[in-house]
Amino acid sequence: METKVQTDHGWNKLGQFLQMNEQAFLDLWVEQIIVHSKNDNIELIRKNGSLMFELITNSIVNKLSENDLKTLAHKVAKERVEANINFGEFVYNINLGRSILIKSVTTSEITMEELRPIIDLINRQFDLFCYFSGSRYTELKDIKLQEKNLFISQTHKDRLAILGQMSSSFVHEFRNPLTSVMGFIKLLKNEYPKLPYLDIITKELEQLKFRITQFLHTSKMNTVNESKNEEITIKYILEEVIDFLYPSIVSSNIQVNSNIDANTRVTGDRNELKQVFLNLLMNAVDAVSEEDQVRKISICTKVDHDEITVMISNNGPAINSDEVKFIFEPFYTTKKLGTGIGLFVCKNIIEKHNGKINCSSNEDLTVFQITLPINKMDEKEV
Ligand SMILES: Nc1ncnc2c1ncn2[C@@H]1O[C@H](COP(=O)(O)OP(=O)(O)OP(=O)(O)O)[C@@H](O)[C@H]1O
Ligand SMILES: [Mg+2]
Repeated sequence: METKVQTDHGWNKLGQFLQMNEQAFLDLWVEQIIVHSKNDNIELIRKNGSLMFELITNSIVNKLSENDLKTLAHKVAKERVEANINFGEFVYNINLGRSILIKSVTTSEITMEELRPIIDLINRQFDLFCYFSGSRYTELKDIKLQEKNLFISQTHKDRLAILGQMSSSFVHEFRNPLTSVMGFIKLLKNEYPKLPYLDIITKELEQLKFRITQFLHTSKMNTVNESKNEEITIKYILEEVIDFLYPSIVSSNIQVNSNIDANTRVTGDRNELKQVFLNLLMNAVDAVSEEDQVRKISICTKVDHDEITVMISNNGPAINSDEVKFIFEPFYTTKKLGTGIGLFVCKNIIEKHNGKINCSSNEDLTVFQITLPINKMDEKEV
């Protein structure tokens, strides 16, 4: 589309006026534009301003193809995206050009009557410029965002794949000797019940086994087929986990309250579910240990018709609402020595057991809630 322009006396006079005042206009504009980034190229901005000025002047004295305006708008949008400039800043600077230009033409000697259509034309050109440049700017930003997301998810997948490969060979190399060392310690304990330090050695080896198993769960090798389908009383595994963590609970001076339903059973893999509760409780211990308040962890259950909900809560520092979205993602950690796979493993295991896990957190309490289907057989027995 082409913009039809009158070529009468007033318009020509204005064209000359604009050509004469180009430098003054650009100086004034560059002086007032918003430029936050130190890396922004003022010379380039001025050059683009000058091109826009020429286009507007041309549209007043000659014909202007909308394509010329579009080409400039797309060029400027691309440069602004590359310079990573804030969109508000970009639009502000365009509109600043509009208002300086309109103010400037009103100081020319042209009558108000002659000026009115000219101002309409300037406004239209600027509106179109904003539309073309704004749309292109958004398109380019979206493409950049998609590329970034793709890169992140690809890197993520690569890291998981590497971790999977590492962990499966790692597990094979370490787990067998570890199991046999633990077996021999048991024998030693039977033969020499008074031999010191065996309990400490056993606890340390169990911790090591937990870590190794954690990696196993992140590995793709650990398919559903490898999991067991046992009937498990939730209370027993929670108590085993609390016992396992007892030394850390005591040494960190934590009050643990529990109110766990004694009968409810679920079907699943005992070790996997233990792993989940161990991760959640270890996180709770870490959280309450961060501050010097009275440290409290509570474990309670709620049983509905066909599901049980286990709530593990602590009064440590809150997880803010932005972070809560990421905590179940692999490698997300805020701890110096964390790997960030604990909650990722929990989510995988719980979902494999047809359950749900979520977290809510505020200044007073952080709660992890796990819901699992209750064993159907169980219902008949009760
Ligand atoms: N109970 C909690 N209270 C506060 N923050 C928590 C809690 N549980 C988890 N988080 C936050 O979620 C992050 C991820 O937890 P996750 O268990 O996945 O990894 P980690 O504990 O950092 O490392 P690890 O792999 O050793 O478990 C933690 O680093 C922490 O910031
Ligand atoms: Mg953890």
